[in-house]
Amino acid sequence: MAYEPRRGDSLNKRLLAALGAAAVALSLAACSGEGAGSGTDTANQAPTDLTIGVSMPTQTSERWIADGNSVKEKLTAKGYKVDLQYAGDDIPTQSQQVDQMITQGADVLIIAAIDGTALSSQLQAAADKKIPVISYDRLIRDSKNVDFYVSFDNYKVGVAQATALLVGLGVLNKDGSEGTAKGPLNVELFAGSLDDNNAHFFFDGAMDTLKPFIDKGTLVVKSKQTSIEQAATLRWQQETAQKRMEDLLTSSYNDGAKVAGVLSPYDGLSRGIITALQNAGYKGKMPVVTGQDAEIASVKLINDGVQSSTVFKDTRLLAEQAVTAAEAFLKKATPEANDTKTYDNGVKVVPSYLLPVETVYKDDIQKSLIDSGYWTADEVKAGQAK
Ligand code: BGC
Repeated sequence: MAYEPRRGDSLNKRLLAALGAAAVALSLAACSGEGAGSGTDTANQAPTDLTIGVSMPTQTSERWIADGNSVKEKLTAKGYKVDLQYAGDDIPTQSQQVDQMITQGADVLIIAAIDGTALSSQLQAAADKKIPVISYDRLIRDSKNVDFYVSFDNYKVGVAQATALLVGLGVLNKDGSEGTAKGPLNVELFAGSLDDNNAHFFFDGAMDTLKPFIDKGTLVVKSKQTSIEQAATLRWQQETAQKRMEDLLTSSYNDGAKVAGVLSPYDGLSRGIITALQNAGYKGKMPVVTGQDAEIASVKLINDGVQSSTVFKDTRLLAEQAVTAAEAFLKKATPEANDTKTYDNGVKVVPSYLLPVETVYKDDIQKSLIDSGYWTADEVKAGQAK
């Protein structure tokens, strides 16, 4: 790609440009990278000379739009250039976008992967150019070239979802004490996309919490589909979850038995599950359905008493951590980790910064989501972001 001088380009870049295209090509090969690339001394460069590549999985889910916007805003406010790309949940598109960020001279990469195992060659290319890679929310697996991980406590997300299911069913009280419901209560289980490392943490946390209640018969998984493979939802698609719920209702509940609750790991899936239940005649007091991400359409459903709960993960705080880590790398420092044991990506344990999560029931919407400025009261009422 032809070099076009831009305001803020380093003298180095301008001199390189003056050498002409052929010479640039030669020097690229020799010094491993166009643009600043982190092989160069980023610690002494102005933010305006540095570019951060931000690769997000999809715009079909609100949370990733919020993540992308927050990261971009925070970096731009500090003067950095940002190359933000969404991959439409398509693995080859994400690989190509990351490749392009590298060839165009990104100095740091922040990546939320679609498939956690599919970016090894891109990460090797980044490592060859000494570009630090921050895995954003979803751990990138099977590569030694993941330098840092920022996320939430994903196991605790699963524990929170299962606990919310138990509380919604009345098996437990909010304070953790035993509730009045003794069962047997029919529940069904949903998991996320198997290629997303988080899906396994969520399901493990949930199953560790639910298993004692399944073992003693308080909860009954009538379909007997209790493995993550059976419960999984490829690419976290709402329609796929709706279809599976419809199939479960037909195959396991045609004897008049009722579903009391559904473990759902993500609000989009929860909405698909709720639609399937409503189409099958459930109305009024709905089965207890959990969720994650505090998506506005689901917050409205919680407010209206249709969905039971969600797990709120404040993407603004995650974006902040990603920016802090990116700046540390640019200054050639080591970002501060608060977990150096949990996230083994198959090749190494990736130093991580994990944020806490919060369960939101109807009563918590005001304090957790409106007072914190995440959503406005009007948005909650409308079920739509402004
Ligand atoms: C994220 C969740 C999200 C899911 C689907 C997971 O990796 O951690 O917050 O609900 O992907 O987008």
